[in-house]
Amino acid sequence: MSNHREVIEHIYQTIKSIDNIGKVAKYIPDLAKVAPSKFGVAYRSIENEEYGIGDWQTKLSIQSISKVLSLSLAYRLLGEDIWARVGVEPSGNAFNSLVQLETDNGIPRNPFINGGAMVICDMLVSHLENPKADFLEYVRDISSCNEISYSASTAKSEEEVGYRNKALCNFIKSFGNIENSPDEVLDFYFHMCSIEMTCQELTKTFSFLAFSNFKTHNGDQVLNLSQTKRLNALMQTCGFYDESGEFAFKVGLPGKSGVGGGIIALHPEKYCLAVWSPRLNEKGNSHRGMKFLESFTTETKLSIF
Ligand code: DON
Repeated sequence: MSNHREVIEHIYQTIKSIDNIGKVAKYIPDLAKVAPSKFGVAYRSIENEEYGIGDWQTKLSIQSISKVLSLSLAYRLLGEDIWARVGVEPSGNAFNSLVQLETDNGIPRNPFINGGAMVICDMLVSHLENPKADFLEYVRDISSCNEISYSASTAKSEEEVGYRNKALCNFIKSFGNIENSPDEVLDFYFHMCSIEMTCQELTKTFSFLAFSNFKTHNGDQVLNLSQTKRLNALMQTCGFYDESGEFAFKVGLPGKSGVGGGIIALHPEKYCLAVWSPRLNEKGNSHRGMKFLESFTTETKLSIF
C-alpha cells in the first residue's frame, strides 16, 4: 500500500503539472459551473486500506457512473429476465446516439448507453414502490454512506434541456420497450444521473463489485458471483462508450465514466480507484482521469491482462 500511495502521488503531481486539456460538459448547464481545475483520486484496497489525494473528498456529479448502480439493483431484483430488453454488446457509438435503435427494434445495445439505462430505469419504476427514494436507499446501503443524495438542481437543469434523452425515451416507448410513462422514467433517470459523491464515496460504493468478501452492514452480499462477474464484463466492454476499446487497451480494468468527469475503475480482488477531473476528451470521458489510470496500471503492472 505505501508503495501505491507513492505511485498515486507521483502520477497525480505529474499529470497536474503538465496538462489539463479538454472541455467541461456544458450541455447540462449545471455541470458547466464546476471548476475545471478540480482533480482528485481515491484508492481503496481489498484490505480496506484507503488513500486519497487532491479533491478526493469533494462531491462530484456522478452522471453515467450511476447506470452501473441502477443496473445492479435491477439485476438483483429481476435476475436474468433483464437481458430480454437490453443487450450486452458495445455499441461503438456515442452514449446518446439514436441510430441503432431503429434497426434494433428499440432494444438498446447495452445498459450503459442512455437508451439502455432508461430501459433499466423503466424496470425499476415498474418494480419499486417509490423509485427515487428506494434507489437512493439502496445506494446508501451498499456504500454505507448516508450523506449520498440526488442534486435536485442538476436533475432539473438536465430535464430542462433534455430534448435528446426525451426523444430516446419516447422512441424506445414506440417499440414497446418502455412500460411506464416517458415522463416518469425520465424523471427517475435524470435524478439517478444527478447523484453526487466524492471519489472516496465512489470507491466505497463500488467495493461490492470489486471484492468478493464484500458484505453490506446488514451482512448481505449485493450480487452473486456470476452477476458480479457479468457486471464487470459489461464495464470492461461498454463502460466508456466508443472509447471502451481504448480504455481496455491502455488501462485494462473494468470501469465506468460520467460526463461530470468522474471515473471508477476496479481490479477484482485487489483495488478500486476513483478519479475526478471535469475536462472531457471528445468521447465524453475525463481527459486527466484516463491519463491517470493508464499511468497507474502501467507503473504498478496491476491491470487484469
Ligand atoms: O443523459 C446524459 O446525457 C447524462 N445524464 C449522462 C451522460 C454521461 O454521463 C455519459 N458519460 N460519459
